[in-house]
Amino acid sequence: MIDRATIDRIQDAAQIVDVVSDFVTLKKRGVNYLGLCPFHDDRTPSFSVSPTKNICKCFACGEGGNPTHFIMKHEQLTYYEALKYLAKKYNIEVRERELTDEEKVLESERESMFIINDYARNYFQKTLHTNPEGKSIGLSYFRERGFRDDIIKKFELGYALEQRNAFSSEALRLGYKQELLIKTGLVAGGENNSSLYDRFRGRVIFPVHTLSGKVVAFGGRILKSSDRLAKYVNSPESEIYSKSRELYGLYYAKRAIVKEDRCFMVEGYTDVLSMHQAGIENVVSSSGTALTSGQIRLIRRFTHNMTVLYDGDDAGISAALRGIDLLLEEGLNVKVVLLPKGEDPDSFARKQNAESFNKFIEENEVDFIRFKAQLLLNETKDDPVKRAGLISNIVESIALIPDGIKRSVYVKDSAKLLDINEKLLIREVNKIRLKKYDQSKRLVQRRTSKSSDRGTQPAPETSSKKEPIIAVSRKKTRIENIERQIARYIVRYGMTMIFQRYETKKLKGEPNEVEVLVEEGSTVIEFIHFDLERDNIKLTNKLYAQIFEEAYRESVDKNFQPARYFTSHADENISKLATEMVSDRYQLSKIHAKALGEDHDDENSILLEENSLEMSIPRITTELKNAYVMKQISHVMKKIKEADEKGDFESTLRLLQEKKKLEAIKKLLAKMLGEQVIIRY
Ligand code: CTP
Ligand code: MN
Repeated sequence: MIDRATIDRIQDAAQIVDVVSDFVTLKKRGVNYLGLCPFHDDRTPSFSVSPTKNICKCFACGEGGNPTHFIMKHEQLTYYEALKYLAKKYNIEVRERELTDEEKVLESERESMFIINDYARNYFQKTLHTNPEGKSIGLSYFRERGFRDDIIKKFELGYALEQRNAFSSEALRLGYKQELLIKTGLVAGGENNSSLYDRFRGRVIFPVHTLSGKVVAFGGRILKSSDRLAKYVNSPESEIYSKSRELYGLYYAKRAIVKEDRCFMVEGYTDVLSMHQAGIENVVSSSGTALTSGQIRLIRRFTHNMTVLYDGDDAGISAALRGIDLLLEEGLNVKVVLLPKGEDPDSFARKQNAESFNKFIEENEVDFIRFKAQLLLNETKDDPVKRAGLISNIVESIALIPDGIKRSVYVKDSAKLLDINEKLLIREVNKIRLKKYDQSKRLVQRRTSKSSDRGTQPAPETSSKKEPIIAVSRKKTRIENIERQIARYIVRYGMTMIFQRYETKKLKGEPNEVEVLVEEGSTVIEFIHFDLERDNIKLTNKLYAQIFEEAYRESVDKNFQPARYFTSHADENISKLATEMVSDRYQLSKIHAKALGEDHDDENSILLEENSLEMSIPRITTELKNAYVMKQISHVMKKIKEADEKGDFESTLRLLQEKKKLEAIKKLLAKMLGEQVIIRY
């Protein structure tokens, strides 16, 4: 657990623009920043970052929050993990208090798995650099291949000893749990008391990092060539590792990708290493498998330009054709570079420096569609049947490109290259697009009709997984709506003074008239508390009530900042809610308008709200009282009807009197509401 003072220090230091920029390319738009949302498949920038409010929010999918929320969501961390991440980023020393036994049990499995991977990374690294076997076999292997020490260190390369259980016995001795060692995939065996053994044995180790640098998996390369053993052994999928969502090298490449506005894609671990060594850092590896759309989206947040590097042999070429359609479909500009025959990026980069490498790329990169057309053209030279197949193959690739202008450029280009009528090509492309459109429409229809069916069925069981933070779908009662408004005023303006009165007076000894405070006034929190308590009204919604109570408690401190306090609240339900309350609809719609190329100014709406608290605060408490009275009246009316039907005359009379009293109150409240200037909420 982290103490409150440290949490405050972290929250103060964490700058939202800074934090988000590590993962999303942001462009300045007025006072805010805008980028592609990392939380949904975003094609036009919807993710807005406000440096002044220190929050971010996607106006398309609604995700966002303060720096801690962003990291929690983006890196799939718990609240405390996210704080620790930020502490590390800002060099803040985290003083943790000793966990209680209970907390130790609660500590999440995922966190333990990361801790184990961290330990394993250090262990393999230490083995490589200090163990005699590690040095003589592992380290000398890397050195013989020509990897420099700085690259070996940077990529945290390691070595796993030959011995069957060298790692597992050491890890168990240090107290790491067997069950979790197995879950991370580092250790296998253990069923029916069989002995444990290490997954990685006698191999050099490549740790796989997430975008933020946490180790989620390992790859281990065998040192001698063997037809009995696979060249690489990799960590299995686990709770923290999904192969299709990671790209090897992205952690080390992201800044360079943004800077160069382009990303190189290679096949293997060693290709990435050698290119870094040659000074080319904007490179990631698909680890020998076809790209997934999840991986492409990871990259698309940093650049839209992808250059795929392939070995200049037949295997390389056919690999070049695989998976590239997906890149086109995700809207990337794809270029291909075929390396000289017999070279892979690894061997080729060794012979180059950054300058000569880039020069080669520049001279040899070909647009993917062109590349494909050329390739197929050579294969199908004079065979008319094959030629027809070729045309439909190209057309299918072109049809995937989401951008219409780009599509038509490709159509023109390919028509010339393949020597066919352009109109014919257009027609073919459109046919495919129409077919796709119909398919997706049908899919959507099916989905929506399914979800509307659900209304007639019993409500789905609440899953054991976390509930969505804010249940938007549930219909709120009128009282709850007003309570929410109250909580929002507290979060946004809780410590703002209202009903203060100044008079200009001539004071003794002062030459001029000065402003003097004659009426103390009260804070928004104080006023609401006083006004509701005198009518004995308590907020019914648990979250709003908690915000109200905590704000009242904390407000004894003159420096209490409700917005900061609640948006960084340890209870995620509260911090999320508060963030929503702090981020303005106005502001967001403004950004939206800007993104669409229009310019609106809604700053005034905010100013208006801030300056009309003296009207809106009493009004909202009165509204709440009014809602209560209305509810009571309808309750009493129901009872009157029941009593009347039973012929219970006495009760009817008593209830009628009660109703009369309530109606008098209602009238009074209505008058108060009528006298107050009407403002729209
Ligand atoms: N790969 C794998 N399992 C294998 C073979 C390959 O996971 N049995 C993945 C690895 O991620 C590897 C990539 O596919 O990095 C490319 O394979 P390959 O070109 O064979 O390996 P390199 O990394 O280039 O290794 P080296 O240069 O040492 O041959
Ligand atoms: Mn290779």
